[in-house]
Amino acid sequence: MCGIIGYVGKKDAVPLLMDGLRRLEYRGYDSAGIAVIGDKKVEVRRCLGKIAKLEELLLKRPIRGEIGMGHTRWATHGVPSDTNAHPHRAGSVVVVHNGIIENYLKIKSSLIKKGRQFISETDTEIIAHLIDEEILKGSSFEEAVRSTLAMVEGSYALLVMNEKEPELLIAAKKESPLVLGMGEEEYFVASDIPAILNYTRRVRFLDDGDITILSPYGVTIKDQKGNLVERRDEIINWTPVMAEKAGYKHFMLKEIFEQPRAVLDTFRGRIQQEKGVVFFEGLNIGPDILEKIKKIVIVACGTSWHAALVGKFLLEAYCEIPVEVDIGSEFRYRDPLVDKDTLLIAISQSGETADTLASAREGKKKGARLLAICNVMGSSLVRYVDGVIYTRAGPEIGVASTKAFTTQLTVLYLLTIHLGRIRRKITKSHGQEMIQALMQLPHLMEKVLEQDQAIKELAKKYSKAQNFLYLGRNIYYPIALEGALKLKEISYIHAEGYPAGEMKHGPIALIDETMPVVVLAMMGPAYDKIVNNIEEVQARGGKVIALCDHDNHEIEAKVADVLKVPSSTPELMPILSSIPLQLFAYHVAVIRGTDVDQPRNLAKSVTVE
Ligand code: AGP
Repeated sequence: MCGIIGYVGKKDAVPLLMDGLRRLEYRGYDSAGIAVIGDKKVEVRRCLGKIAKLEELLLKRPIRGEIGMGHTRWATHGVPSDTNAHPHRAGSVVVVHNGIIENYLKIKSSLIKKGRQFISETDTEIIAHLIDEEILKGSSFEEAVRSTLAMVEGSYALLVMNEKEPELLIAAKKESPLVLGMGEEEYFVASDIPAILNYTRRVRFLDDGDITILSPYGVTIKDQKGNLVERRDEIINWTPVMAEKAGYKHFMLKEIFEQPRAVLDTFRGRIQQEKGVVFFEGLNIGPDILEKIKKIVIVACGTSWHAALVGKFLLEAYCEIPVEVDIGSEFRYRDPLVDKDTLLIAISQSGETADTLASAREGKKKGARLLAICNVMGSSLVRYVDGVIYTRAGPEIGVASTKAFTTQLTVLYLLTIHLGRIRRKITKSHGQEMIQALMQLPHLMEKVLEQDQAIKELAKKYSKAQNFLYLGRNIYYPIALEGALKLKEISYIHAEGYPAGEMKHGPIALIDETMPVVVLAMMGPAYDKIVNNIEEVQARGGKVIALCDHDNHEIEAKVADVLKVPSSTPELMPILSSIPLQLFAYHVAVIRGTDVDQPRNLAKSVTVE
């Protein structure tokens, strides 16, 4: 999950590379480095720590060049250190890499037998040595890269420079993201769009197997056999401002407050209230097929998996289709029962999550129709599936997913109406009501956000707790999971989400006065049972923070603290009830002084297994 960026043009590459790395830092931030070619010599600067450390190093030991590349690392092989930081160099060759080379140990030992010496513990360093070996045998730089890629197994987004052909920057992609930025007589290549948005919005998305040769005179893309391939220009509809903090202290807070707009953007232009129908551009799976689907399987990871769990409730209730939900890393290895009558939905904010991508490939192998719910144009997932429904959340930079989650739920709600109307399980009038409720949602979300200060106060009260339980039933169980994940991943407090009905089967043993318990107590089919759960927790000294409907005074009288949520239809309440939990986690983390946007050990997109 590293971030890489390359530049070829007429400007000094260093400031552009550093700006790009700062925008990629959310992808990994345990070490960073850049390399440039100036006066036909490669210069490298790299160090342990965040981009700021690299900036200090460059102030002390500046470098300059019109061709260069940069890397910000999330360690896979080798601890975070100066010597394991990218770029890695061997002879005349220098590389940066995002991915995992699975056969690197075998290659490394054969290179050592040939007398090659290694400095780092990384898998990446073997790539530099292999290319250098090929060049020494007489291959051109491009041929050397191509033959090296034929020897390595695994995933890579790779940038390579060679002192012997100093005008070229070569990029290669396989199962790790890489996008080309087409400027005016200058070219960029990066892991993600925000890194180049300030310079160009004209991009070309690269495919697995593409080898791209960048020079000041232009860009050539070839396949692994050396044949020219065409990749069309696309214009990104994000602006650079969207990728900035816009005055917020953290990207996460900005993205929490962007949610009403993001949800509105996600359903705008896709609803016809008078007909009670929903339609999607780019779905590419027609009603004739959707009508015959016998099963839906939804695969995802992390927060996206929580959205999938909510989707199951909606799709089964309103489309009467059996829905299986699975975690990507489990689905891909369990030989799932999937066939041509299955619709496999892959949910991923980034569209680059390795386990979700692998699950989509598994589904395609078994004949399923593939539909992606994704936030990033041109991502690997989007380019692989039959149809895509974009969440129009805009760039989500904070590692903790927020607006992506609520827009994923919005898409699942829209898809429920779409499928339900096609399969005649939702009447026109019910469709109209569901659309009407959705149109009111952004306003209700704004009202929840008005509680930010109250939630901040609540966070102060509980920020010293060492453990939390989050409980929910029915459609709120996934929201309990999501609330717990938000808290644990940014505040480092141990937090577990549980189906409330499970308390008697073990977790209640944990309850005492040091264990705050967040309970989602909105009105629903299991409301009375959740009230019983609150009483069981309190009888054992547990402190309950309850979320409930704004007009529910019964709960308010029972618990230590209450967070009110304006009422909407039951199907939309998961969206509303997740917002207070996002804000609570955010404020606890800020009070605890953790790095909210770039929590330790995490990265925004898990592009490796
Ligand atoms: C959520 O806050 C986490 N950042 C993480 O669980 C994330 O949801 C997961 O890695 C899936 O990412 P994706 O949606 O990009 O596939």
